[in-house]
Amino acid sequence: MTSVSGPEKMHEHIGGPLFVAFVAGPTGRWKIDSVKPVIGETLPQADRLDMVESSELQSGLFGGWVLRGVTSNTRYSNNSEVQAMKARQEVLGRPQATRAALIPIRKTPAWWVLAQDERRAIFEEQSHHISMSIEYLPRISRRLHHSRELAEPFDFLTWFEYAPEHAAAFEDLVNKLRATREWTYVDREVDIRLSRV
Ligand code: HEM
Repeated sequence: MTSVSGPEKMHEHIGGPLFVAFVAGPTGRWKIDSVKPVIGETLPQADRLDMVESSELQSGLFGGWVLRGVTSNTRYSNNSEVQAMKARQEVLGRPQATRAALIPIRKTPAWWVLAQDERRAIFEEQSHHISMSIEYLPRISRRLHHSRELAEPFDFLTWFEYAPEHAAAFEDLVNKLRATREWTYVDREVDIRLSRV
């Protein structure tokens, strides 16, 4: 298992799936500023959080709570969307990005019984998740982790980093996404905000 101790090492992962554990407790590189339930059951408060990256599924990590996810192939993005994202996106670990958000999300059984084309239509054609959010790049850097297949309490662990001057823009995006049809399929969401010096 490799654990990452400095932001300089958190480069874009270009190999296979990257297993990521978010460990909350008394220690960790990020200070937890707030833990707020958006819908459904919240998570316990904690002081600090660490993001532990590994090429294997981690076990034996202890904290107030631990959430695990894994990066994966895209499900919904088409080729032109992938290219547009690549042209604009920024890496994690930028020195000026001293604010972060960890937003674990679970979707309803009604979402998961839909066919792939139905989910794509809700996600993009109706909710404009990509076309709306891409405007916020490169101010916000992001990484999506899948958790559903790991039998975790959430389906996704979404992670974002931004500079303090872009906090209002991030708030604006989050509010717009929560008002979409896609979000009517979200039945558990916790909004965790973090900072580091
Ligand atoms: C910062 C700008 C953002 C961009 C550019 C962006 C882009 C994307 C893209 C391209 C995907 C689909 C990946 C695929 O094809 O499988 C995706 C999925 C997702 N995003 Fe975002 N996103 C952004 C912000 C957010 C925010 C703020 C949230 C949460 C509040 C969020 C939550 C999610 C979730 C939960 C998924 C997985 C959806 C699913 O597979 O059902 N995104 N995002």
